[in-house]
Amino acid sequence: MYSEKVMDHFRNPRNVGEIEDADGIGEVGNPKCGDIMKMYLKIKDNKIEDVKFKTFGCGSAIASSSMATEMIKGKSIDEAMELSNKAVAEALDGLPPVKMHCSVLAEQAVKSALLDYSKKNNVHIKGLEDFV
Ligand code: FES
Ligand code: FES
Repeated sequence: MYSEKVMDHFRNPRNVGEIEDADGIGEVGNPKCGDIMKMYLKIKDNKIEDVKFKTFGCGSAIASSSMATEMIKGKSIDEAMELSNKAVAEALDGLPPVKMHCSVLAEQAVKSALLDYSKKNNVHIKGLEDFV
């Protein structure tokens, strides 16, 4: 049912924790399953210098957030904005249909943290208008 990659990222999640002086913090949840995801970003010169996450949720949510952090680390803000839940699920070699929303949560957590960053620093991030 779960791919090797999902199991790997669930058992050994990357970038777990929090960043104390984070430039952007995002928190999202899914009211149906009750899972919560928190994402911390350290941003410098428009680049995601560091990213950490904390997920209180199912294995797929943990694997999705772990994969999402790997996919945006070192990337530009614009590149991070382009991260879609589909790309996260594909990078994990797929998720069961009932678990696709876990990857949506990961995409939203990244955008929510970017939104926080844009508000705190009064910068406009293209694409965030459609978010929220
Ligand atoms: Fe139980 Fe997500 S449904 S942790
Ligand atoms: Fe809801 Fe995974 S079951 S995020």
